[in-house]
Amino acid sequence: MDLENPVTEQMSEERAGEQLWTAVDRYISERLLVSDPALDAALQASASAGLPAIAVSPNQGKLLYLLARIQGARSILELGTLGGFSTIWLARALPADGALLTLEVDPRYAEVARENIAGAGLADRVELRVGPALDALAQLDAENGGPFDLIFIDADKQSIPEYFQWALKLSRRGSVIVTDNVIRDGSLLDAGSEDPRVLGTRRFHDLLAGESRVNATTIQTVGLKGYDGFTLALVEEPA
Ligand SMILES: C[S@@+](CC[C@H](N)C(=O)[O-])C[C@H]1O[C@@H](n2cnc3c(N)ncnc32)[C@H](O)[C@@H]1O
Repeated sequence: MDLENPVTEQMSEERAGEQLWTAVDRYISERLLVSDPALDAALQASASAGLPAIAVSPNQGKLLYLLARIQGARSILELGTLGGFSTIWLARALPADGALLTLEVDPRYAEVARENIAGAGLADRVELRVGPALDALAQLDAENGGPFDLIFIDADKQSIPEYFQWALKLSRRGSVIVTDNVIRDGSLLDAGSEDPRVLGTRRFHDLLAGESRVNATTIQTVGLKGYDGFTLALVEEPA
């Protein structure tokens, strides 16, 4: 402990912790993930196009893939496409006649994602709709869309509670809803926060606490994406 400067000491401990999480993430992916040219190309194309590096990590992508396989998902809804990295992981879990619908507000990101999805050979089972997810969800409901076997909520965080309510509406008994980035470096606990993303994740947990139609837990995670977490919910009774 640096008694002269405890703040500097704490910062260097935090940095060391983050470096360790990243090294362990790399250790895991080197052993459990095979080299994947389509996913590597998707990340490369996203970076070259200037998209922010906020896709799920490769190990988290594999988790999504495994959850979709375990669920036997034939229909998947994703909110927040970015460059299509998580889309590719999820779509790969589908059978040949399965379908994934992904929603993205930014047309430039959507264009990059479309190319990445086509490059991964998945254009036949992925539909990408461009526009605000809340509008797309209302439209989907009006079309009698769903129910989806698995829903991945990974768009803007302030709207998570509204997205979750839509997800419940577009579910069946036994659907799985995964919601990402709900811990946010622990700021979830900050009752005084005015950050709309933190408010969104707090409202979300309050909603879950009073929602008997789902069985849910939130898991904290560390890794190359830092300290965060996701919520896994099983729909017992759709809305
Ligand atoms: C965290 S990124 C998604 C990452 C992606 N799921 C992955 O792991 O590869 C969030 C995405 O949600 C999109 N987004 C933000 N607000 C949105 C909205 N209102 N409707 C739809 N998409 C939105 C952003 O443009 C961004 O591409």
